[in-house]
Amino acid sequence: MNKVSASEVREKYIKFFGSSPRSHAEIKPAPLVLEDDPTTLFTSAGMQPLVPYLLGESYPAGKRLVNSQPSIRLGDIEEVGDNRHTTFFEMLGNWSLGDYFKKEQLPWIYEFFVSELGLAKEKLWVSVFEGTPEVSKDNESYEIWKKLGIPEEKIFYYSAKKNWWSMTGTPEEMNVGHIGGPDSEVFYDFGIELGMHEKSAFKNEKCHPNCDCGRFLEIGNSVFIEYKKVGENKLEELPQKNVDFGGGLERITAAVNGMPDVFKIDMFSGIIAKLEKKFDVEYGKDEEMDRSLRIVAEHTRAANALITSGIVPSNKAHGYVLRRLIRRALMHARKVSDSKDISLSFVDLSKFGIPIELKPEDYVQKVLDEETEKFKTVMDSGIKKLSTMVKNNQKISGDVAFDLYQSFGFPLELTLEALESEGLKFSDSDRQLFEAEFEKHKEQSRTTSAGVFKGGLADQSSEVVKLHTATHLLLATLRKVLGEQVVQKGQNITKERSRFDFPHPQKLTDEEVGKVEKEINEVIDKKLPVKFEVMPKEDALKTGAIHAFNEKYADTVKVYYVGENLENAVSREFCGGPHVGNTSEIGHVKIKKQEKIGSGLMRVYLALDN
Ligand code: SER
Repeated sequence: MNKVSASEVREKYIKFFGSSPRSHAEIKPAPLVLEDDPTTLFTSAGMQPLVPYLLGESYPAGKRLVNSQPSIRLGDIEEVGDNRHTTFFEMLGNWSLGDYFKKEQLPWIYEFFVSELGLAKEKLWVSVFEGTPEVSKDNESYEIWKKLGIPEEKIFYYSAKKNWWSMTGTPEEMNVGHIGGPDSEVFYDFGIELGMHEKSAFKNEKCHPNCDCGRFLEIGNSVFIEYKKVGENKLEELPQKNVDFGGGLERITAAVNGMPDVFKIDMFSGIIAKLEKKFDVEYGKDEEMDRSLRIVAEHTRAANALITSGIVPSNKAHGYVLRRLIRRALMHARKVSDSKDISLSFVDLSKFGIPIELKPEDYVQKVLDEETEKFKTVMDSGIKKLSTMVKNNQKISGDVAFDLYQSFGFPLELTLEALESEGLKFSDSDRQLFEAEFEKHKEQSRTTSAGVFKGGLADQSSEVVKLHTATHLLLATLRKVLGEQVVQKGQNITKERSRFDFPHPQKLTDEEVGKVEKEINEVIDKKLPVKFEVMPKEDALKTGAIHAFNEKYADTVKVYYVGENLENAVSREFCGGPHVGNTSEIGHVKIKKQEKIGSGLMRVYLALDN
């Protein structure tokens, strides 16, 4: 258990920014759930309700504001399970509405971390904005950090992808009308021994604050909101220069206690301890088990926050998110628990002073229990339906497959695992059919859930398209290096990485990782064209193109291939696209991370390395 509680950190922060010479007025945080805002489901940043004032309207309490804002971010839901990602968190925030700027903000936040919280100076690293043709490099912040005593080798310049903040991303990505600007982040260094660099193929790569090996934890972000997007590729300077600082309370508390794992701070340790007792397991002994315990703990806490904010599970909008969180937690509980005793508990958020209005314990517990019962019923009837279909050699209907997926939450592989643990055995072709039907339905329903859980090729940004082609090369190369048994079991592409699942009994060795990366990059360097041909399915099969499952395809299919002609292509795959026109557009790639996600199943993350 940590020595300094999250409540103490929150209190110190509000007091520090409230006292002279900083003199910020403490404002009430916005509700977690935004019922009337059609553009967004939840409050995800403290600045959200302040937009009119950042644009220049005058705020009654003054130009300096501070609070702790409960927030929900779903973009990272699939990262939950590691040492630091959560969907629900509190964000400590301070704002200057056209008042103080960089030369006050950076020294203040540094003073808060070092003098108030006692973080060791030498553990702090920072990042600043490297500039674009339109917006200049942030040398001013660089100089301020240097003057404060941060050594130059710990100050990193990054591009807009990392050091620009707006609700909708980089200057290019930003929605017209949105505001944002360059930012400067502070990272806490837990030491090299925690990073992958020591123990894997990444040894030779120089670690840096934005490396996601677990060594560095981002604990604060000072955004200098100076711009508004006014047209395609057009930014306009705002009439005033604002500061928007945000720092995750859970992460800061972890740093203060020297704990690289946020699940060990007081806000989580009680929940984890309960789970250990209930399931008779020990946290911190097994990577896969820890991942599931973290997911159960995190989603339970988030579900409590949502229920207590008035949401009930449903199939739409807020209720859908709540249902997914609860069911995902239940599914991981099943993974951990032999007894199949899966229930979720009430979490007393008020114990930690989380500033949201609470519903009574018995109400929250009732909602959780009802949803758990529904989950069990869906699962039972799903298993029954599926068993009959499998037994009678029936085609698994898309409805049933997709219902099960929706009910059990991400990822599909876990759904199958859960079904198998119920005694329902899938043959390879059943499994493929299930996945194919599921994919078909997912495609159809994408529009309904778009915006809530983003991902896949719904996003056709240049990064996603590059990674899509790179993923074809990854599959072809994995088959070459590991063997033809490698097939695609799951895939999800975001701007940051491509996540790829395939059957393989153990993690790839450093040598295998190196070989796969090298081979892909060599193909890229050959500047090969990426083309497709539309042909009858029968002919396509004869070309040896990799196809996920026959059932999925229409009579006429598109085969994408990398190389001058189909016969000698490096990769041939049934695919709808889109892809780059030439491999040289990809730049280089690297395998960022790998993990074992189930029996006989590996997951690798491929990223652009430019
Ligand atoms: N708005 C910024 C963020 O959410 C800083 O508060 O990261």
